[in-house]
Amino acid sequence: MKFFKLFTPFKIRNTEISNRIIMPAMHLGLADQGAITDRLIDFYVERAKGGAGMLIIGGCYVDIYGKGLPSMIAVDDDKFISGLQEFTEAVHNARDDVKVCCQLYHGGAYAFPQIIGKQPIAPSEVYSNFSNTTPRKMTHEDIKREQQAFADAAVRAQKAGFDAVEICANAGYLMDQFISPKTNKRTDEYGGDLEDRLRFPKETIELMRMAVDDYIIGYRISGDDFVPGSNTYKEKGVVAEELSDLLDYFNVTGGWHETKVPQLTMDVPEGAYTYLAENIKRRVKIPIFSSNRINDPIVAEETLLAGKADAICMGRALIADPFLPQKAKDKDLHSIIHCVACNQGCFDNVFALKPITCLRNARAADEQRRGLNPIEEKKKIMVIGAGPAGLEAARIAATRGHDVTIFEKEDKIGGLINVIWIPPGRNEFKRMIDDYTYWINKLNIDVNLNTEVTLETVQEFNPDAVFLATGSLPVKPKISGIDKDHVYWANDVFTKDAPVGRNNVIIGGGATGIELAIYLAEFGSLSCEEFKFLTFYDALETDVALDMLYRGKNKVTLLERLPKFGSILGKTTKWVLLDKVDKLGVEKLANVNVTEIGDDYVKYEDKEGVDQIIDNVDKVYYATGVKSNDQLYKPIKKMGIDVQKIGSARKPETALEAIEKGYKSGNRI
Ligand SMILES: Cc1cc2nc3c(=O)[nH]c(=O)nc-3n(C[C@H](O)[C@H](O)[C@H](O)COP(=O)(O)O)c2cc1C
Ligand code: SF4
Repeated sequence: MKFFKLFTPFKIRNTEISNRIIMPAMHLGLADQGAITDRLIDFYVERAKGGAGMLIIGGCYVDIYGKGLPSMIAVDDDKFISGLQEFTEAVHNARDDVKVCCQLYHGGAYAFPQIIGKQPIAPSEVYSNFSNTTPRKMTHEDIKREQQAFADAAVRAQKAGFDAVEICANAGYLMDQFISPKTNKRTDEYGGDLEDRLRFPKETIELMRMAVDDYIIGYRISGDDFVPGSNTYKEKGVVAEELSDLLDYFNVTGGWHETKVPQLTMDVPEGAYTYLAENIKRRVKIPIFSSNRINDPIVAEETLLAGKADAICMGRALIADPFLPQKAKDKDLHSIIHCVACNQGCFDNVFALKPITCLRNARAADEQRRGLNPIEEKKKIMVIGAGPAGLEAARIAATRGHDVTIFEKEDKIGGLINVIWIPPGRNEFKRMIDDYTYWINKLNIDVNLNTEVTLETVQEFNPDAVFLATGSLPVKPKISGIDKDHVYWANDVFTKDAPVGRNNVIIGGGATGIELAIYLAEFGSLSCEEFKFLTFYDALETDVALDMLYRGKNKVTLLERLPKFGSILGKTTKWVLLDKVDKLGVEKLANVNVTEIGDDYVKYEDKEGVDQIIDNVDKVYYATGVKSNDQLYKPIKKMGIDVQKIGSARKPETALEAIEKGYKSGNRI
């Protein structure tokens, strides 16, 4: 693989950017009352060393009214300049040619009253579906003050040694709120047609330009708001044309926070939103960045070669692997640890008001504390189970120099990963298996497949230490009829050990039940390849093919004991999956207590305690949780061997938790 464009330099204003990989702004939850912390410095120093052309930090709030989250970086006061300066110096010292940009943020109606301690302000009193609040309409005084806040913040960033500032005008924040007819209902000069709605951002940029003069001002733009009644890619093209003379680059991203079109989840195909960058690139002369779901340098290169953008934002990809740019440049592509767009450690933590972490990189945002420990003596380590926890523990222990051997009862590594990548839109998880396969080979980790470990195996192997990573076992609910032949454990469908029926009932509406519902509802539908082929040759009418593309013919009913579905799913993924379940016509019944499974029916009590029956059922699946599979623990311990349970063998855990534990165990031994 040769990169023709990705590692060529380009210019923004008069500044050369050494390559075309940009790390976009991502709130990490690491600032301390607005101030830069060591963890923030460590995070970005590592990414600077990793080779990206420019790192954008933030969003950094320009005024308390705009503060979006508690642990955001602040640029609203001169007192923060020295900390920011320490930050830029550390990043610049880490690599000569890295550039660092400060994203200037104002949430407007997206700010939360609980966080800013007062009613948020916005162009108009339009209820925000994001902050669940109605903002106060900005007076002229408010407008002038907030515009000045942007200009003052830009000056602070310049003084602190940033190479650029970027206005966070995307995702439905204050700038977008002024530009959108949905949120701007003003009748003064700041509202009305698009030209007037653009007055606020235009004046703000002009004020900033006067304040910072010959200095990079970038603008992050939603390429399409993807919100009914708001701006589409058509208006956003005009917005870009109108503003481009005042700016030095556009960073084109996707829609607003409140959109119902998924933006960041793993079912968004890689590069799906590059057309938004292209739409703007066609219209303006300044550099264009393309953003969202580009986590592979090959996709980045293809986007550049297609002429859709001048640079590529890789956000979560660089959380997962800070050294992705350098590895790609060195053509060491297999060693990249890929972001899988799970959002479990990053975006979900933002909404839980916690610092970010990462499913693929347990060190992310805690670089110093979680560095690899040197080993005191080389140990012979036996890892039982090649699921996520076992693989991570093996990788880390072997990286540190231990002699590691994996024992796996199946014929392949991956454990639960082999199941979770199967449902539609979850295929990114498969990358984890590819990545671990690379590391196993690279680190000379011995793998014994098809090996069910017994105490004799342990005795014979004679390890210094054992990581017991044997995962979990399904919990069979105590329901009359559960042992009938047409009743299956949900995950067996994904491994093809259970058939798919025409009229299916799933007991358990947690993550597994929801994934299975989607799988069953889409089962037998046309694939994208088939759709393309059949419609390209006019073999099938497009509307008929479209109907076959979106769903199969199976009926699916999802039953949940609790009032809500998907209780352990992260916020950013849950709504996407539940929306999909609804769109696919799955019948969801909450607050139900299944009492009996008959040969062709399922009986349950509804929330009023009334018996109900689902008829003509031919397959039933249970997805009612798991329990730890740790039978070997006590006997191995009795043998006097140092044994640790990790992952779900210790207690049922998410993949994120299991991998973090795997990392810690592999790093401690
Ligand atoms: C944890 C997290 C925090 C984010 N915070 C911001 C932010 O403050 N400002 C912003 O413009 N975008 C923010 N984003 C969006 C990212 O900049 C980026 O557009 C998004 O992650 C999609 O790109 P990716 O697929 O390369 O990660 C955030 C994303 C994540 C995952
Ligand atoms: S937590 Fe998941 S989505 Fe976030 S950076 Fe890590 S792998 Fe990517």
